Amino acid sequence: MKTGFIAATAVVSIFAVTSMMLIVPANADNQENNSRSVAMKTLGKNMKTIGRAVKSGNITPDLQARAEEIKEISGRLISLFPKGQELPDSRAKPEIWSDAAGFKKSNDKFTLAANALVAALKTGDAGASKSALKATGKNCGGCHKAYRLPKK
Ligand code: HEC
Repeated sequence: MKTGFIAATAVVSIFAVTSMMLIVPANADNQENNSRSVAMKTLGKNMKTIGRAVKSGNITPDLQARAEEIKEISGRLISLFPKGQELPDSRAKPEIWSDAAGFKKSNDKFTLAANALVAALKTGDAGASKSALKATGKNCGGCHKAYRLPKK
């Protein structure tokens, strides 16, 4: 009895999953909810939080997790731009793919800055953290300037 029920449940679940895959196409990602957008917005939030803290001089230990997250995202940023999978309404410049080496170089610089930010926050020094944050922000802007289209 029990096995029969489990088997029936399994069949129903497989059917449900398969039909969902048919209804929701693989490229149903849009500009609002795709992993690239989520990651970039997370970068923005973390930068803002750390920015407020360094301004007030109140360097709290929880900021390290924010910096670690920036560093973690920088480590997978390139993979958020898979070739040939452009998203609707994306502001990604074609140069990301035609100048992949330059894009990677820009992100390498960002990663170095993010590492330095993690290190600076660990020291708890507000001044050092402030300059490390500024340097990190410069790299956000540098990449955006070169590889992000202006607002439509
Ligand atoms: C190596 C390149 C690169 C770096 C470094 C980078 N970005 Fe971006 N970012 C982009 C590109 C390209 C886009 C446009 C993506 C699109 O529209 O598909 C973007 C988009 C964004 C967006 C808009 C996301 C949305 O969907 O609304 C925000 C916010 C953002 N970035 C914040 C940041 C912040 C903050 C940093 C630094 C802490 C940063 N980015 C670092 C390349 C980069």
